[in-house]
Amino acid sequence: MHVKQLFWIFGAAMWLMSCADRVEVSPLPRLESRGEAVQLLVDEEPFLILGGELWNSTASSPAYMEREGLWDRLQLAGLNTVLTPVYWELIEPREGCFDFSTLDYAIGEARRRDMRLILLWFGSWKNSMSCYAPGWMKQQFGEKYPLVKTKEGRTLEILSPFSEVNMEQDKRAFTAMMEHLKRFDTDRTVIMVQVENEIGMLQSARDYSEAANAAYRSSVPQEVIDYLQRQGANCRPRLYEAWVGQGSPIAGDWETMFGTGIDTEEFFMAYHFAKYVEPIAKAGKEVYPLPMYVNAALNSRGRKAGEYPSAGPLSHLWDLWHIAAPTIDFLAPDIYDPLFPEWIAQYDLPANPLFVPEIQHEPRRENGARVFYAVGRHKALGFSPYAIDDATPEREGYALKEAYTILRSLMPLVMEAQREGRIHGVWFDRNHTEQRLTIGDVPLLCRHDLTLGWSAEASDPAQWSETAALVIELGEGEFLVAGTGVVMTLQPRVSDGTIVGIERIDELDYRDEQLPALRRLNGDEDHQGRHLRIPFGSYGVQRLKVYTYR
Ligand code: DGJ
Repeated sequence: MHVKQLFWIFGAAMWLMSCADRVEVSPLPRLESRGEAVQLLVDEEPFLILGGELWNSTASSPAYMEREGLWDRLQLAGLNTVLTPVYWELIEPREGCFDFSTLDYAIGEARRRDMRLILLWFGSWKNSMSCYAPGWMKQQFGEKYPLVKTKEGRTLEILSPFSEVNMEQDKRAFTAMMEHLKRFDTDRTVIMVQVENEIGMLQSARDYSEAANAAYRSSVPQEVIDYLQRQGANCRPRLYEAWVGQGSPIAGDWETMFGTGIDTEEFFMAYHFAKYVEPIAKAGKEVYPLPMYVNAALNSRGRKAGEYPSAGPLSHLWDLWHIAAPTIDFLAPDIYDPLFPEWIAQYDLPANPLFVPEIQHEPRRENGARVFYAVGRHKALGFSPYAIDDATPEREGYALKEAYTILRSLMPLVMEAQREGRIHGVWFDRNHTEQRLTIGDVPLLCRHDLTLGWSAEASDPAQWSETAALVIELGEGEFLVAGTGVVMTLQPRVSDGTIVGIERIDELDYRDEQLPALRRLNGDEDHQGRHLRIPFGSYGVQRLKVYTYR
């Protein structure tokens, strides 16, 4: 080839490369601490995740999703985000050979509908087990790839976190996925990644493999000791009290530092699970820095560590996860238990924003209520019922769709109010029927709508499903209330003895994102000025203006 031709080809290649550099890419989604809230920014705008998580196997098959018309249904259900697994066994069917076709399909379908994705990395662990490890790895489980052992010496189908080899394989695959995203997802359809799924040790509180036993007998890493000394009573109580109970030692093995028993075994294991996750998340973020979190199966129903997945990203283990996996942005609870408010409160911590990545799909439509409480009371980043494929109008679909439609219209207002600390939440069930809020100097008594006894369901305890609302302070004496099944009465102001009354209530049309006033509510709708009400079974947004009289 002539030198001139070579020059020309070289010049053209350089020009093409410089064009590639200029290709418009959207800014990366990121978490940012803004005012009183940590918020997720998507396309630089604060974004509330109105999500739903697919059944585990749905995303393994584009053909299945097509057959079910699933993407259209998800869009119709009002979601702006779908939580979808990425399966290690499918993306790396042969060692080192990657196939991202299922992921690319999901990105394409979500993008077409202006929906976002959160990827769930089903890597080394899925609900504690290692069922999603590729077949070529499974064939060498227990040999090349060490597994955990119970106290009795039984081997479980769980990759041991004490193996560098296991971690390296996971890291390689995870990084390949992030590299692929970086290249393929320039529109930023994927906004966040969950690293692994419900990590935890089962049957025993800790791994009893040889490597694990050696680590258990060795000194607690200095970073843990430094942290305890630095943070003291700011640590989560169980960890702190165990340490203080031992006389606050500044050196020693896990039992010297925290005592004997399954609590210590769980501390030890949490640290090492997190130590395994950290290099994976770090390598992934180095390639493509999306927000990353880990989700937890809860330590509920009075079960002991090992009966529930021990040492997962649980609230009482927050410090250990934070020390060993600082790259992980937050820990998140999967809610499959009653008393949802108590569980989510445990994950709203100073350095841990609340996100509910999974919550049981509720035939009684309770999630349509719960999302208001999570967003209002705990400034949640978002909400996502599990098995969202089932959200049909007959089941939860209607409730969730109404709730999500409201929150979509309210999103800018909600995000601003979260930052400025002007948002509140109330939640009710059969046994928790009222809650008092004082906003500014306006005292509100909020109740479950069925306490009025006006609805047919009121007399049947089985019908009392959960209700909730969020309340935003709009200005002096002006509030916005959004939710379902609540009634609010104004209370006398203690400070100056004046009585607070309803000047006016406007129902807002939440199907229009401009939120125009639809009806002036008075008469029967506000009980002749006595209360604000969103009746049980319906959804609404109302703007309340109060006044005072003597
Ligand atoms: C929690 C897990 O994270 C999900 O993947 C799924 O297995 C559900 N449990 C099933 O209830």
